[in-house]
Amino acid sequence: MENLMDKLVALCKTRGIIFPGSDIYGGMGNTWDYGPIGVEIKNNIKRAWWKQFVQCAPNTFGVDAAILMNSRVWEASGHVSSFSDPKMDCKVCKSRSRADELIEEFCEKNDLSMDVEGMSNESMQDFINAHQIKCPKCGNFSWTPIRQFNLMFETSRGVTDDNQNKIYLRPETAQGEYVNFLNIQRSMRAKVPFGIAQIGKAFRNEVTPGNFIFRTIEFEQMEHQWFCKEGTDMDYYNEFKQKAFDFLLSLGFKAEHLRFHDHEKLAHYAKCACDIQYLYPMGWSELNGIHNRTNFDLSAHEKFSGKSMSYLDPFTGERYVPYVIEYSIGADRLMLAVLCEAYDEEIVDGETRVVLHLHPSIAPYKVAVLPLQKNLSSKAQEVKDMLSRDFMCVYDDAGSIGKRYRRYDEIGVPYCITIDFDTLEDDTVTIRDRDTMQQIRLKISELKNYLSDKVNL
Ligand code: GAP
Repeated sequence: MENLMDKLVALCKTRGIIFPGSDIYGGMGNTWDYGPIGVEIKNNIKRAWWKQFVQCAPNTFGVDAAILMNSRVWEASGHVSSFSDPKMDCKVCKSRSRADELIEEFCEKNDLSMDVEGMSNESMQDFINAHQIKCPKCGNFSWTPIRQFNLMFETSRGVTDDNQNKIYLRPETAQGEYVNFLNIQRSMRAKVPFGIAQIGKAFRNEVTPGNFIFRTIEFEQMEHQWFCKEGTDMDYYNEFKQKAFDFLLSLGFKAEHLRFHDHEKLAHYAKCACDIQYLYPMGWSELNGIHNRTNFDLSAHEKFSGKSMSYLDPFTGERYVPYVIEYSIGADRLMLAVLCEAYDEEIVDGETRVVLHLHPSIAPYKVAVLPLQKNLSSKAQEVKDMLSRDFMCVYDDAGSIGKRYRRYDEIGVPYCITIDFDTLEDDTVTIRDRDTMQQIRLKISELKNYLSDKVNL
């Protein structure tokens, strides 16, 4: 759909889904605030993920680790030495750009095929000079040399601002899972293979424009680490690829909007890695990652902490440092994909109906309760109060019934319940389906079961 991203950004702002961060101060680049509708959708996405990857998963344990961790963690993980992007500054407008992204955009525009992932800083510099790639902000060609910039936000602990007290905002949640490997194993009597999962904030000093909530400096990750024995790792890697794909299908994604992308240039720790990409309005881009991280992480923490990370198999007596299969997905990036997938415009009775076809399980409200007239409000409130014990509901008596239906279509509410004068006589209501716009009549006493069947994942 043309201008889908602009339409979504506008809808999100006007309908309380997502606002620009620090809005009254003119915003702050790459930050966004979730409004009352957005927070419900995002919480539902996180719940759906947790249900699939913790509640219904075998041998998997949740954690909620601290954001601020001992700095040695980030030395062990390699983030201090190598979590950086190749960046260059425009000498005219002083804006900063990522060299690899400038080249990717240039190649896309000019239909060139180029493996940017595998390029050294020197060859990127040569390419940019040879093709005179200009600053996307001011259009000048006047770059500083490429330099590596670490993406971690630094802060300091205590009162003195020196290197001794330097700490970092975590750039991924994964390390909180690795450092708790021993704690979980002991406290939960966990036997390999087992998983540790976490949902939490991560921070990266990204400088490039973010495409709404696709790339932000503060975001939430949903990460799952599966600890297994070397030799079983590739089977689990393939299993997680499938599970990750199936999860997206279960949220209502069309298979043709998703694809696997195998990494050619691997991170220093990885045996193999792939993304699932989604067809966003700006093109195919990473939605989540699945990585076979070998035993790099646990071995590195063993070296830096001095604590043995090896696992003693109680059945065979073998001792080894487990391999890790990691599945990682950004909650915000998934939210954007969910919104893109759900947004639709239809012509109904000569007018455009904007509708979010959200899976009912992630819809912000499951039900809107609408009295046909204001003097039916006390019965309508009664129904709303009854349903609110089980479902997120909203009550609305303002405007014509048609306008109210459209209001709730726009934010993806799957069911509207109308209270009319017959309701007072026979305790029945009309329930309208968002997608088909079909209406049926149901007894109030049947509503709970009817909705439970539909809104659970
Ligand atoms: N622990 C592995 C890891 O962090 P990653 O590929 O850097 O791997 C995993 O990030 C996922 O986190 C991505 O696939 C994406 O969904 C999300 N993500 C990464 N950077 C992000 C950003 N700046 N803004 C929003 N989401 C981001």
